[in-house]
Amino acid sequence: MKGLAGKVVVCTGSGRSGGLGEGILQRFAEERCRLVVTDLGRADSGLGEDHIGTTGEMEAVAAGLRGSGAEVLCVPCDIRKPAQVEALFDAVIDAFGSVDVLVNNAGVGYVMKPLAELAVEDWQLVLDVNLTGAFLCTQAAAARMRESGNGGRIVNIASQAAKSGFRHMAPYVASKHGLIGLTRTAAIDLAADGITVNAVCPNHVTTGLGAKQSEYFASLRGLTPEDYRRGIAERIPLGRVGLPGDTAAAAAFLASDDAAFITGEALNVSGGEEMH
Ligand SMILES: NC(=O)c1ccc[n+]([C@@H]2O[C@H](COP(=O)([O-])OP(=O)(O)OC[C@H]3O[C@@H](n4cnc5c(N)ncnc54)[C@H](O)[C@@H]3O)[C@@H](O)[C@H]2O)c1
Repeated sequence: MKGLAGKVVVCTGSGRSGGLGEGILQRFAEERCRLVVTDLGRADSGLGEDHIGTTGEMEAVAAGLRGSGAEVLCVPCDIRKPAQVEALFDAVIDAFGSVDVLVNNAGVGYVMKPLAELAVEDWQLVLDVNLTGAFLCTQAAAARMRESGNGGRIVNIASQAAKSGFRHMAPYVASKHGLIGLTRTAAIDLAADGITVNAVCPNHVTTGLGAKQSEYFASLRGLTPEDYRRGIAERIPLGRVGLPGDTAAAAAFLASDDAAFITGEALNVSGGEEMH
């Protein structure tokens, strides 16, 4: 892809093996970018350990990327915390001298409850990570991109849930719809600085988060997760569920020079399941 070699790419929530963030950075490694793996990286986040990129897992992802020849910085950061977000981008500037691409990928997708049973804490957790975290990272990255005078690219990993409602997923759906709103507004506000802002909207991908969602919805229907996912594949016009590489290819395109005149867009990567 044009214009990507040597670019510094920060991808939040990229510290889980098999996650979309790892897949995205693998693709940017192929494009010979310099990479920043960042995730919670510690167990005191208040989030269940089976849902987070722990320090060991994050370092394993970084080691894998280094194994493919990439230069990789690994920084723990809770994107809900403004001071940690500032420290993350300061560390990136110290190590690499610039931030060229931000992928807002970190997300919480395992809070699934009927609307009537949702506690305000459930709602707040999802909004804090999926929307406020993306806002804080966008603001911090854009400030460094502006200072560099070289513009930049921001890619928000939204979801099919940014465009359609889903049962028992009010905070997730609201946060992802909100992320499209942030994408459109940031695209306008940051255009004068040469920064484009776009979103990618995948449907189901069997990552840790995707597996939790399919286990939950399978149990509501009395199906096994495998049968539930087979049903998803059958209703997708292109006949399979998505892979991390599908989302990664869209992110790489939106970060490339070929997408220089695209901003404020929300691109479906769903094999034709979502079309608006
Ligand atoms: N898997 C899917 O089916 C699917 C579909 C559409 C969109 N998405 C989106 O893709 C993104 C990646 O999800 P995934 O499927 O790879 O799941 P994942 O659980 O593997 O990745 C999410 C990552 O976010 C991190 N994270 C959570 N809270 C954080 C915080 N406060 N600070 C920093 N990092 C934090 C987690 O540690 C984890 O590594 C999410 O935004 C998700 O909503 C996933």
